[in-house]
Amino acid sequence: MTATIGFIGTGNMGGALARAVCRSGSGEEILLANRTPAKAQALAEELGCAVGANTRVARECSLIFLGVKPHMMAELLAELAPIFKERTDPFILVTMAAGLTCRHIQSLAGGDYPVIRIMPNTPVAIGQGVVQVCALDVEQGELESFMDLMAPAGLVDQVPESLMDAASALSGCGPAFAYLFVEALADGAVACGLPRDKAMSYAAQMLAGAAGMVLDSGKHPGALKDAVCSPGGTTIQGVRALEQGGLRAAAMNAVIAAYEKTLEPMKRHWISRRSKIPYFS
Ligand SMILES: NC(=O)c1ccc[n+]([C@@H]2O[C@H](COP(=O)([O-])OP(=O)(O)OC[C@H]3O[C@@H](n4cnc5c(N)ncnc54)[C@H](OP(=O)(O)O)[C@@H]3O)[C@@H](O)[C@H]2O)c1
Repeated sequence: MTATIGFIGTGNMGGALARAVCRSGSGEEILLANRTPAKAQALAEELGCAVGANTRVARECSLIFLGVKPHMMAELLAELAPIFKERTDPFILVTMAAGLTCRHIQSLAGGDYPVIRIMPNTPVAIGQGVVQVCALDVEQGELESFMDLMAPAGLVDQVPESLMDAASALSGCGPAFAYLFVEALADGAVACGLPRDKAMSYAAQMLAGAAGMVLDSGKHPGALKDAVCSPGGTTIQGVRALEQGGLRAAAMNAVIAAYEKTLEPMKRHWISRRSKIPYFS
């Protein structure tokens, strides 16, 4: 049987998405390829998928997830471009690379192939992720089918491509910021005498619950915060300490720093085009 969904690069993000797609129960055959084949093999055994070479995914799959780092994309697509050119059947490229536009993926792939650009985050592996989606030269029906396929990953939202980099800095990078906060809160509780395992699970569940309250109630987080802070109580003293430590400014700066870094590949691309130096080659 011909595989219809393929993943090239089954690292942190490609692997998490493969898990989400398998959970969708679409019934499509899934083919995994990775530079270090043992990684794809281990994931294939876990998910009940097949393993193949990059070239096989490029030749046989109708939906091809490109899961390599942005700076590796040019080399990968240079290898695959001749195969894409030979194909007469339709296929869609799915890029998750931070900072690379759909148009840029088309130019690296050597043709105006339909491209779906997504910005996922690692919690898609447990169905609690966020995936922003935009597309170029993809029919509406195909895009809707793709959104359905992604639904088990978590919140799947279509946005204009101009918002992808800001979304990437928030929800793509955000899990790392959240893990720092979980760890730091747990450290504080350990300092107060709580065993490490309890401190970790209480901190993580507390954050999941607080986030759930924001999503379910639709209330402003400031109002929810006020409801926890009794006048003259303990919580407001903790809030004071966080404000003294610059928590809000640090969180805003984290997102802005990630956003600025995300813009670098395309900036370098335009500079290299202007100076005729092929940066990505
Ligand atoms: N991590 C995140 O939270 C996150 C969030 C949003 C978007 N992304 C995007 O997801 C993409 C992957 O990031 P990642 O964090 O998953 O990186 P990663 O863990 O390093 O995974 C990249 C994978 O690509 C494989 N690879 C490299 N070159 C290859 C080639 N020529 N052919 C086949 N496989 C190849 C690597 O194989 P080896 O096993 O040999 O190293 C590795 O397994 C990036 O474009 C990134 O911008 C990541």
